[in-house]
Amino acid sequence: MSGNKHTRRNFLKIAGGLIGLTAVGAWGELTKNQMSLLNKRSVTFPFNPNKEISFVDDYIIRNNDEEITAFSAHCTHLGCIINKEQNGKLICPCHGSEYNLEGDPVKGPAYKPLKKYQATLSSDHKQITLKT
Ligand code: FES
Repeated sequence: MSGNKHTRRNFLKIAGGLIGLTAVGAWGELTKNQMSLLNKRSVTFPFNPNKEISFVDDYIIRNNDEEITAFSAHCTHLGCIINKEQNGKLICPCHGSEYNLEGDPVKGPAYKPLKKYQATLSSDHKQITLKT
């Protein structure tokens, strides 16, 4: 009788371990696939060619007639959304960090540049797509 108990207990331990390993492996694969999908995401917005700086959702679009640059609007200090341009600087409302229009910090506490995104204008120049 006790021999059967040990056998059943051992079987359950091994089966539980295998199920756990399979679940961990499947979760890792799922997470990896979702991360790769997230990395290939793109967003499209209406484009206003008459504005040099546009704040759209979590992004800042700069159009200086020669090129279009897109940045994350998340301040590199603690992540507040930058939503103001003044005298050629992008201003964070939380702790006063300032960035030039190339996205480089010119006043702290932030010391890292804003994240840049590849921007593509539609052929009719009415929409802009960012690869995020
Ligand atoms: S979050 Fe922007 S300065 Fe602190």
